[in-house]
Amino acid sequence: MENLEIILARRPDGRLSPDHFEARAAAVPEPGPGEVLLRTLYLSIDPANRAWMSPVPTYVAPVKPGDVMAGFALGQVVRSNDPSFRAGDIVEGATGWRRFAVTAARNLRKRRMFDPPTALLSVLGITGKTAWFGMAEIGRPRNGETVLVSAAAGAVGSIAGQIAKGMGAKVIGIAGGAAKCRHVVQDLGFDAAIDYKAESVGEGLKRLGIKSVDVYFDNVGGEMLEAVLFRMANFGRIVCCGNVSQYDTATPAPGPRGVPGLLVVKRLRMEGFIVLDYESRYDEAEADLARMIAEGRLTYREDIGEGLASAPAMLVRVLAGGNTGKAMVRVE
Ligand SMILES: NC(=O)c1ccc[n+]([C@@H]2O[C@H](COP(=O)([O-])OP(=O)(O)OC[C@H]3O[C@@H](n4cnc5c(N)ncnc54)[C@H](OP(=O)(O)O)[C@@H]3O)[C@@H](O)[C@H]2O)c1
Repeated sequence: MENLEIILARRPDGRLSPDHFEARAAAVPEPGPGEVLLRTLYLSIDPANRAWMSPVPTYVAPVKPGDVMAGFALGQVVRSNDPSFRAGDIVEGATGWRRFAVTAARNLRKRRMFDPPTALLSVLGITGKTAWFGMAEIGRPRNGETVLVSAAAGAVGSIAGQIAKGMGAKVIGIAGGAAKCRHVVQDLGFDAAIDYKAESVGEGLKRLGIKSVDVYFDNVGGEMLEAVLFRMANFGRIVCCGNVSQYDTATPAPGPRGVPGLLVVKRLRMEGFIVLDYESRYDEAEADLARMIAEGRLTYREDIGEGLASAPAMLVRVLAGGNTGKAMVRVE
């Protein structure tokens, strides 16, 4: 058995490229007491991976040049020195961009096999649960309200919009390009879509006859957030899920105009969250998402790259909007 690791070779100073990484052969590590050796099956490719490369701490420690790239993965236990896991168990955890990883057992979570297993990283993984908690706990759309979702053809956005539809809302997606907009409406069942590359969000809302937005599920931040702020309904809610428009740059834009003025005048609630805060309720979200899939009320798409070495190019592609649905890499 040989290990392979993807190292952050240097910090990006602006746009990320695959050249910022290096692949390195390494020995398969030995698990110590309370640790588990696992092989990575699928590696999750997340826009946040780019944010973790910045020297500014986020909710995880910054990845430094020379470090194995941080990342979330689905793996299978090879050897366990902890009684809570045994060889063959399917587990998830932040085990990094490596073929074999040793991790403290307390940092892993056991998963029940699902068909297909990739769903454990997509709709039943971090992204599906992010959509579930963000919409159900923070956005809380009521029957007949208008919900707007950015990055709507992406992993989180595609699920968030369908959850809002299930709650009785009118759901509009924002996505880049005609093909993604068609997918959002025809395959995911959103009521309409705005191609922000062909028209501004304001123009799109006007074309659709939408005067105001009750819930904005914001995956993007930046100018798009500013445009939507001006079109929020009184007592509207903005779910601050992510800021992908500002991750892949050395000079993020300042915050939007309208904060705090519009928050006051329109009595808006703008709330950020990290899905990890809801870890004690993951089982509940996964059970509900699985039920929705089984009943044909939730559809999902996955964008799967082949081989660990393809992870850097896949992340670059996601940041440029090349993916539809949940991006991941098949490692084993
Ligand atoms: N809060 C949490 O706990 C949590 C957990 C997971 C993810 N997130 C956040 O959720 C968001 C979506 O993540 P995801 O994994 O589902 O990724 P994703 O939506 O599958 O992929 C990112 C998408 O963002 C869009 N995008 C990129 N640059 C953009 C720009 N400048 N303006 C508008 N859209 C842009 C692209 O789609 P287009 O082609 O449509 O532009 C791209 O496909 C991210 O902000 C992520 O950080 C938050």
